[in-house]
Amino acid sequence: MSAAVHNFSAGPAMLPLPVRERVAEALAPRSDGSPSVAEISHRGKRFLAMAEELEARLRGLMMLGAEHRILLLQGGANLQFAWLPMNLAVGRTPAYLLSGHWGQKALDEARRIGPATIVGSSEEGGFRELPEIGHLPAGCAYLHFTGNETIHGLQFQQPPAAAVPLAADLSSEFLSRPYPYADLGFAYAGAQKNLGISGLTVVIIREDLLERIPDDLPRYLDYRTWVAADSMYNTPSTLAWYVALETLRWIEECGGLVAIEERNRVKAARLYEAIDASDFYSNPVTEEGRSQMNVPFWTVDEALVSRFVAAAEDAGLQGLKGHRAVGGLRASLYNALDLDAVEALVEFMQEFERRHG
Ligand SMILES: Cc1ncc(COP(=O)(O)O)c(C=O)c1O
Repeated sequence: MSAAVHNFSAGPAMLPLPVRERVAEALAPRSDGSPSVAEISHRGKRFLAMAEELEARLRGLMMLGAEHRILLLQGGANLQFAWLPMNLAVGRTPAYLLSGHWGQKALDEARRIGPATIVGSSEEGGFRELPEIGHLPAGCAYLHFTGNETIHGLQFQQPPAAAVPLAADLSSEFLSRPYPYADLGFAYAGAQKNLGISGLTVVIIREDLLERIPDDLPRYLDYRTWVAADSMYNTPSTLAWYVALETLRWIEECGGLVAIEERNRVKAARLYEAIDASDFYSNPVTEEGRSQMNVPFWTVDEALVSRFVAAAEDAGLQGLKGHRAVGGLRASLYNALDLDAVEALVEFMQEFERRHG
């Protein structure tokens, strides 16, 4: 019998097995020839019922009240980097808190739209700790932060405290734990980590912020268009919506976000413990900043990284190569990954160390 394969990909990431099975079943040909969920109109009764359940489940898990709107969009987090300042930073300066690669990208894009200020950054130390917030600009549009930096493996335990609307990129920690979503003015997350497959971006926006949107934007790039159209201004990515719905049902079956958080905490603790117990592997992030979702790590001898990746693949451990921006190794421990996978990784790491240490 061949060893089980475990998928540590940073995204698109693994789906929970029951979700994969249900999606496969939903797409399987029917003997009477009736269409699957991916082959029907998004305006028809069957799809609209699913869309309604999807929004209700998202709202429930995020514990959002009527003051927040949920939008289901396309274009990924990268489009939000520009879409957000185009809508909410006109005539006001947004502030950015930088804890890694993605926050930097969000800032660069905002600066193509208008001025934007950095109010804290841990870049100087190589993004190994969470940044402190400095002085916010007068009339600040919002404070942007990246809840979890997927590449640097740095995560805010809680949203930063600031007296301006908070705007968060939550891509790689979305629905991984109970989180005060209702305290945010704005947030966005691609679905391809904890909510299914790529092609869907969830945005939440506090209703009062819609009033700040200028009237001369292209319709597609005005959040109000999507609010008015219930996220169906044009054809949505219907299959990604369906996979998201099955993923939300699965989260509930697991016991909701409290149970999911506990699973994630145990997995991350196991891996950090193994890294810290060894002189062969290292993770440079301070304890308060360590991510529960993405764990970058290095072998003391960098030359061993590619051998590690190749040997891990042979042992059925996939997706462990670090992001090209920082090199090294990275294990992504999203909701769908079982503790078994982390145990298999730790065992492999110990064996690799014995052979090469
Ligand atoms: C924190 C974070 N922000 C943004 C992105 C970019 O997302 P997308 O490819 O959906 O634009 C990623 C992708 O990995 C990410 O992890």
